[in-house]
Order: sequence, then C-alpha cells, then structure tokens
Amino acid sequence: MTPRRVGVVTAGGDCPGMNAVLRAVVKAAAHEHGIEVVGFRDGFAGLLSDDSLPLGFDDVSDILVQGGTILGASNKDDPFRVPTGDGSSYVDRSDALLATLSRHGIEGLIVIGGDGSLRIADRLGAKGLAVVAVPKTIDNDVAGTDITLGFDSARAIATEAVDRLHTTAASHHRLMVLEVMGRNTGWIALEAGIAGGGDVILIPEVPFGYDAVAAGIRDRVKRGRRFSIIVVAEGATCPGGGAVVRRLVKDSPEPVRLGGVGAVVAHALEALLPYEVRYVVLGHVQRGGPPTAFDRVLAARFGVAAIGALADGEAGCMVALHGPRIERVPLAESVGRTRSVDPAGERVQVARRVGTVFGDEPV
Ligand code: F6P
Repeated sequence: MTPRRVGVVTAGGDCPGMNAVLRAVVKAAAHEHGIEVVGFRDGFAGLLSDDSLPLGFDDVSDILVQGGTILGASNKDDPFRVPTGDGSSYVDRSDALLATLSRHGIEGLIVIGGDGSLRIADRLGAKGLAVVAVPKTIDNDVAGTDITLGFDSARAIATEAVDRLHTTAASHHRLMVLEVMGRNTGWIALEAGIAGGGDVILIPEVPFGYDAVAAGIRDRVKRGRRFSIIVVAEGATCPGGGAVVRRLVKDSPEPVRLGGVGAVVAHALEALLPYEVRYVVLGHVQRGGPPTAFDRVLAARFGVAAIGALADGEAGCMVALHGPRIERVPLAESVGRTRSVDPAGERVQVARRVGTVFGDEPV
C-alpha cells in the first residue's frame, strides 16, 4: 500500500550529495506519488526528540549543489542505546521513536546513512516500520552497492590534494605523506592514489612494512625521481602496531575515530631515508562542499528510487547501484558486512602494474 506521509533522516557523518537526495525524494514524492515528506533533524536524534519539519518544494529548491545536509546529521545517536542522564547506562527508546512516527501519521521512513545508520534502520524494520535506506558515506564501505553516495566527491577532493602536493614535492625534492579518510577501508587512498599518480599507497587491506616502502622510494631515486607522494588511508595498520586511533567518542555507536597515521609514517620514513618529509591530514575537507556531477546524478537516482520503493509498498530494502542499474537489495544483506578493497583485485593490480608501491613486497 502506498503511504500518504513518509519521514526522512540524514544520519551518520555527512557527505556531499545528501541534500541532492532530499531534493529528489521530496520532488518525486510530490510530483509522482502525492506523498507528503516530513524531515527529522540531526539524524536519529530528531526522531527521538520529535524535532521535525515538513519538507515541500520550496524547502528543497536550490539545495542540489549544497554540501552537508539541511536537516543536520549526527553520528552519535542510536535509538536502541540511548545514554541515561548521568551516562552510566543505556536504554532502548526505539518504541518511543515508533510512537513519534505514528503520532505524525508517518507510514514509512527513508534513512540516508552509512553502515551504522543502516544497522539501526534494519532493526527498526524488524519492529515493523517500513524502512528504505540510501547508502551514503565517503568511505565507500557499504556492502551490496557498487558505490556509495559521497565517495566520488571525496575521491575528487583527495585527488586534487595529491595533484597539488606533487608540484611542491617535486620543487623541494621531498617526500609528502597525505593522510586521507576511509575508516577501516582504503577506497579513497587507493583511488585518489591511482588518479593522482601517488607513488606509494598504504591501505588497511594490504599490510605494509617501512623497509619495503623505503626500498620503493630508493628505487625511484635511482631512476632520477627525487620526490615521492605517499597516500595513506587513516585505517592503515602500522607495522608492529594497529591502526592509529585519534580519539574515542564515548556516546557514539562506533566510538573509535581514526587519525594520525600520516605523522607516524612520515617520522618512520624520515628515520630511514636521507630526505625531508612533510605530512598533510586532509580530514573533513573530504566531506565538505558541493558534490561532483557523478554524485548529483547518483543522488537523484537514489532519491527517486527510495521514494519509489515506499510508494510500491516495498520496505526493508536499500537502493543500490549495480552496474548501470539502480536496484533494491534486502537491507539485511548489506548490514553487518563491510565492503573492503580486494587486495588481490583488479584496481590494486592496476596500481602495481604502473609501479605503485604498497609496501608489502619483500625487500
Ligand atoms: O565515515 C565517514 C568519516 O568521515 C570517516 O572517514 C572518518 O573516519 C569519520 O567519519 C570521522 O568522524 P567524525 O566526523 O566524527 O570525526
């Protein structure tokens, strides 16, 4: 049965293209299906505190190219695990959330989110709510889709950073280390590294050693290349240690925040090689600003498909890109699985064939 009114949330970390999805959902809901849309602010927090606003045509015009999300986002709130006043324990407030939705006459929910938010969406679906998910994250780590919304924009920003570091590295004959995001996967590092011609790419999926990285850089010097660009994913595992953790966000469903591996790699290489090393942490720049044309098109396709699924009376699914098509996949099939870079896959092989060092070769 087609719902008359649906809710929408932008949950988890923001990324370019979320507003473009909201625009597509609201416009297609009105144009094609006669469905009203209600937005909830700050991800699941707004559903818990009943902080909502009706979303009509005027609210979503002119937001296509705007980065971030007009609804606000949060990567902390889990309705199944809400901290009590003093933070010493947690309570399940999912029933209260469902009651809020029914008070609003809302018969379906679109969750625009990454893996953590999709897990929550799936649990709400198991309690009877009609949920449709839109996979977004710059990390590109959601299983069940060829690509997530926001990844292309982050990859473009990281590629531009590699390009810019190239010229200054070459002028000063230095090693430049660029740390990019991606949580426990190396998609941004790998693809920005390939696109920008990074000389060394370090990702969580390919364990590396400093001697092998240094050997690769010495080889370049022998060939007359007196500078090197090293692109390192924030989740890359340091030899003899683990991933570098920057902070723990206690009240977040996924408390670990990575960061700092760029500095660790830079210092280790400076000790092994007679060259100056500088490092850059690209950070949240990768999540800001307007989406690329690819992400705008993907956002429109995902948004139209998500409201289309609810209009068809379908729920418990995620819209996904499979080759040339947008399809619906069961949410449960995606949840709890991480889409990592295949270390033996074609992209890594391509990078190796053009001489990229992954630091795993025997010295
Ligand atoms: O999941 C997106 C992401 O940007 C990761 O790449 C990064 O590790 C994390 O979020 C940063 O989280 P926060 O915005 O809480 O610092």
